[in-house]
Amino acid sequence: MTTGVSLVLKNVNLPEGRIADISLSRGAVSHVGAGLLSDDAIDCSSYLVLPAASDMHVHMRGGIQSSKEDWRSGSRSALAGGVTLVIDQPNTIPPITTPGLCNDRVLDAQLHSACHFAINSGVTAGTDFEAMWHAGAIAFGETFFSPSSYGEAIGEATLEQALKRIGNLNALATIHAEKITPVSDLDLRSHDQARSIQSEEQAVRTVNSCNTSRCRVHFCHLSSAASLDAASGSLEVTPHHLFLSLESVDNSSAFGKVNPPLRTERERKNLWERWGRITVIASDHAPHTMEEKQKKFSDAPAGIPGVETMMPLLVGHILDKKISVISVIEKTSLNPATLLGIRKSGFEVGDRADFALYPKTPVRIRADTLHSKCGWTPFENHMAVFPRQVIMGGTMVYCEGEFFKGSPQWFPGRGYNR
Ligand code: DOR
Repeated sequence: MTTGVSLVLKNVNLPEGRIADISLSRGAVSHVGAGLLSDDAIDCSSYLVLPAASDMHVHMRGGIQSSKEDWRSGSRSALAGGVTLVIDQPNTIPPITTPGLCNDRVLDAQLHSACHFAINSGVTAGTDFEAMWHAGAIAFGETFFSPSSYGEAIGEATLEQALKRIGNLNALATIHAEKITPVSDLDLRSHDQARSIQSEEQAVRTVNSCNTSRCRVHFCHLSSAASLDAASGSLEVTPHHLFLSLESVDNSSAFGKVNPPLRTERERKNLWERWGRITVIASDHAPHTMEEKQKKFSDAPAGIPGVETMMPLLVGHILDKKISVISVIEKTSLNPATLLGIRKSGFEVGDRADFALYPKTPVRIRADTLHSKCGWTPFENHMAVFPRQVIMGGTMVYCEGEFFKGSPQWFPGRGYNR
């Protein structure tokens, strides 16, 4: 066959209600309508077909943190959850703050990642932002405006300067906005007090006022309605803040410890009421080992895994008619691509040929069926819909628990000097 069409997705129910065949050639959507000739076709009439997600916030670890996760395990976890592009955060050990470290991170991912990837630059007082932009960083941050696991905080003056320089590059700065009150960190409720909703909102307002140069700012993982209302710029919310609350997890266990913390059930519902204001849903996939999470609460690291469960939880909500298909596509494919200046996955000719095919049957989430190295999930027993097949670059890379070799690409930022 010489049509150049690698695969046709037949009978796809498009978000606008039309049914069409989608032909994929050379990694892109080449035709939407009647299917072009191809050796390979998948009948999608029983599936909810979605553009594969781009997860703007993951921590793929590796190096001396490989017992938590590495590129191989983390990227497979992404694919099995319908995510074909991950944006890796720079708070690795050592943090990604020099072009050399950025290159090493890219090389590691090129060797081991099963999915597409991009790398963010760290933001510290000494970071050479221009050099990191030329090295291929796609965005700057998460910028720690308060310390977190493996993240050292910067002060207001440094942030203001950093935003000026990042703004001059017309690049995106992503911010972890929190403030800490010194109270004992004994359990999830005191962790919530130590990093309260009020102080998160205050931190958001301070970041707004530090942005005198009007740099493009993206707020990471906001956890309350008040912070969403205060934020100027784009913002992301995580599945754990949308699907978990202080009431739904064991208060004394550090498995639910995360920054920003889980909030009350009331606040969780408030977040859902702001669904329309949320620009991006990102997982903040931050795996730690079970051994680390079983330490004394105050010593246990903050962070929970989620790249594999993000889309399945959202698709469950789509099937329950709680949220629209279009809103999920916007927040997991279109908006991340627009913010990062890359090609989106989607149903239009020229879009990236990355799709996830979801059966319309929810199942219970079980940690032992997931692919992250950490081996646990805070969403155990939640109902979700996992993709049966995942397409990346026009070819099948995942089917019913089995992975197939694809062509993962690095997505450098616009400043990359080859
Ligand atoms: O809980 C968190 N864990 N929040 C962060 O911002 C960092 C992350 C991590 O890297 O473990």
